[in-house]
Amino acid sequence: MLPILKVKDLSIQFKKRNICINAVNKVSFALDEGEVLGIVGESGSGKSQTVLAIMGLLAKNALTSGSVKLLDQELLGLNNIKLNKIRGNRVSMIFQDPMTSLNPYLTIQSQMTEVLMLHKGISHKNALNESLKMLDLVKISDAKRRIKLYPHEFSGGMRQRVMIAMALLCKPELLIADEPTTALDVTVQAQILELLRELKNELNMAVILITHDMGVIANVCDRVCVMYAGNIMEGGTIEDIFYAPKHPYTVALLESIPKLEQDGNDIDAKLKTIPGEPPNLIHLPAGCAFQDRCSCVHEACRHGEIEPQFLGESHIVKCNLQFITSGAVMQNSNCHLASKTNI
Ligand SMILES: Nc1ncnc2c1ncn2[C@@H]1O[C@H](COP(=O)(O)OP(=O)(O)O)[C@@H](O)[C@H]1O
Ligand SMILES: [Mg+2]
Repeated sequence: MLPILKVKDLSIQFKKRNICINAVNKVSFALDEGEVLGIVGESGSGKSQTVLAIMGLLAKNALTSGSVKLLDQELLGLNNIKLNKIRGNRVSMIFQDPMTSLNPYLTIQSQMTEVLMLHKGISHKNALNESLKMLDLVKISDAKRRIKLYPHEFSGGMRQRVMIAMALLCKPELLIADEPTTALDVTVQAQILELLRELKNELNMAVILITHDMGVIANVCDRVCVMYAGNIMEGGTIEDIFYAPKHPYTVALLESIPKLEQDGNDIDAKLKTIPGEPPNLIHLPAGCAFQDRCSCVHEACRHGEIEPQFLGESHIVKCNLQFITSGAVMQNSNCHLASKTNI
């Protein structure tokens, strides 16, 4: 069976006058029907540009290479007429701030029915019926009345539900959600994530969920890609990444999740942060992009290109430590990984 989406060696560079920003570097992943893939990483790590490339929505100064296949159709380099048939129809996207995607001057009804009439060529009456059904599905009560409202008349959480309903109108094979809950408060955030999980099961669609929150990943996703400075540093199932992380960056990210203390009352006071900053994407160092912040860095990490290594069927890591004997790693007294994992 073909995966719904197959991204292979996707690289994205932005040209600005005579400088070149290396935003995404040889990213590869695949997604099956009904699967939720999480993409996690710090701000600026290339998460949004990766999915914008899938949607054909990169800025004009972007240069891409590699391949993005939706079933057997290549999307990279497709012209706008063909992309318009795919966007909102076979692949839909929801963004962090629904106000940027909803038209403030039009009622929800006009915006929803227009999508269906355009993509599916159905009558206004049928489009209205479908839109009401979709609002029910995303649990907006009193849909018949509310569909006549304007976006600003909804609360943040309700607006995100409307956005999700619009994204799902044409029953896409793939839904991309780029930090869909970041702008919402925590209780509403949990409701929206629960809704996405239910809808994915109901509609059996593939989902890419972008977040900077490892907790969200653990709750919602089947698999996860950890991105850093445009690279997928580690990818695998939730079990691989949370129980057997192999990349020092993944380990550091996991250590920065707030945990409840044993007595269940206090937030752990020793919350870890990752010292330093991501590298400049204009002048990336040779070797590993994480080298300057890595507590396990080794001479071999500073040269050449680090190739991704398969550790199992689904687990992949872009780190030299797999080749370095644990004795050599142990010599690096700062390395917090050596004692924890069997590298
Ligand atoms: N049009 C552009 N021109 C130059 N650089 C860009 C452009 N769009 C994005 N970038 C750069 O690409 C990098 C990755 O951005 P992005 O994928 O949006 O990060 P995030 O992981 O936070 O979603 C950032 O450093 C950003 O500045
Ligand atoms: Mg982003």
